[in-house]
Amino acid sequence: MTYPPSVLGGAQGRLLPLSIPLRFFLPAILFQIVAWALIAVDPDQATTFVGGPGPTLAAVHALTLGVLVMVAIGASLQILPVVTGRDLLALWPCRLTFWLYVPGTLILVAGFHSVDLATMTGGALLVTGGLALYTLVTADVLRRTKGFRLLVAYNAAALLALVALAGLGLALALDFEHGFLVDHLGVAIVHMILGVFGFMGLLAMGYSLILVPMFALAQAPSERLGWTVLILAVAAIVVAVIGALWAGSVALILAAVFGLLAAGLHIGVLVQVLRRGMRKRLGLSFILVRAAWGALAFTLLLSVAAAAGVLGDPGPALFGFIALFGWLLTFLTGILQRIIPFLAALHAGKEGRTPPRLSELTVETPLRIHAGCHLAAVALISVGLLLEAAMAVLIGALVGVVGAAAFAWFAVDVLRRMGFSWLRVPAEQPGSDK
Ligand code: HEM
Repeated sequence: MTYPPSVLGGAQGRLLPLSIPLRFFLPAILFQIVAWALIAVDPDQATTFVGGPGPTLAAVHALTLGVLVMVAIGASLQILPVVTGRDLLALWPCRLTFWLYVPGTLILVAGFHSVDLATMTGGALLVTGGLALYTLVTADVLRRTKGFRLLVAYNAAALLALVALAGLGLALALDFEHGFLVDHLGVAIVHMILGVFGFMGLLAMGYSLILVPMFALAQAPSERLGWTVLILAVAAIVVAVIGALWAGSVALILAAVFGLLAAGLHIGVLVQVLRRGMRKRLGLSFILVRAAWGALAFTLLLSVAAAAGVLGDPGPALFGFIALFGWLLTFLTGILQRIIPFLAALHAGKEGRTPPRLSELTVETPLRIHAGCHLAAVALISVGLLLEAAMAVLIGALVGVVGAAAFAWFAVDVLRRMGFSWLRVPAEQPGSDK
């Protein structure tokens, strides 16, 4: 598998208009602020969260749909054509995905916050429509891709999880009004497993095999290890789903063991890649990526403790928080702060301008504030959840808001330094609206 350096070769020829990935990245940056703020709205409910509508569920989806999936959509729509060499069928489905998914997420989060069932259902339908379109666009590229079997497998497994979690999410929202689900809690846990480990987890693992070597200027890791990780991860998800619905805590613990094996191998392989990389100084972004890898291992250990019942009442909320804010959000903000200036530089080069160095596009101060506040917020809220101390959760959430605002400052500053040329809609790309 000879990805990274060669990936860049074809990159400029397959760049989408910058407004396509940015129309997902910019709302994600705002939703990050909203997610932390919604935890601060009702820290008592967050401290004892075991499901059900309200500010905490709104915070969970401001993060999961508003940040994690939002960035995954924007990034994969751009990275897939570059890596596979296959253009998207057309650009209008990407724009339509935006017009369904972003307002839908806003409405769904508002519905969860206000506990308004009609608003929840309306938002859930729009979001599901947007996710269905995104799934069709990317599945079409995967179908036409020759080679890159490992990336295709990770992406296809993630899309399957996305379809299932969206269907279950819709059912859960409708169940609040119609009460047709036999085991609402079991379905909610399956929904969470497919969202956190299925779609986001598999996508993060699959794209890390390309992005980490690319940023470290290293050769990609062996394909055989990549397949082993994928098989262990999918086995973990399947066994966890069986555990959540039927088999109970023994299966959940077995799933966590498979997950730990997959995560351990995945992280081990990527740490080797970083060691072999020509670029040693990867800066703050990879301090966050390494912290996220640590949080992933800690999440899986927590899931064993939670399934064994040794964490008591705070167990489920603590597990969910570390998985979402500790692992996935830390990883994503680490990668996103490299992707945004990287894309900006590629586009500047494409417009015939001398591509600026990443250091010319990136301001360190807001990134330092973000990293410090983010890690402090994750630590404070984790302690608050464990000790059921709402004040620690409140302070942590407010520190999280400051960190997210600093991240927004960084992103807007990169776009300002680019000189908002990306707002201009360029001539259509290959594969455009037929
Ligand atoms: C179509 C999009 C989605 C809809 C309609 C939706 C809907 C819901 C609903 C109604 C619940 C409440 C279940 C309850 O607590 O009674 C829920 C819980 C949850 N969802 Fe989603 N969701 C969606 C997408 C996602 C995604 C993409 C993720 C993760 C990446 C996610 C993660 C979670 C988590 C962690 C919970 C809490 C689980 C629990 O309550 O125990 N959701 N979702």
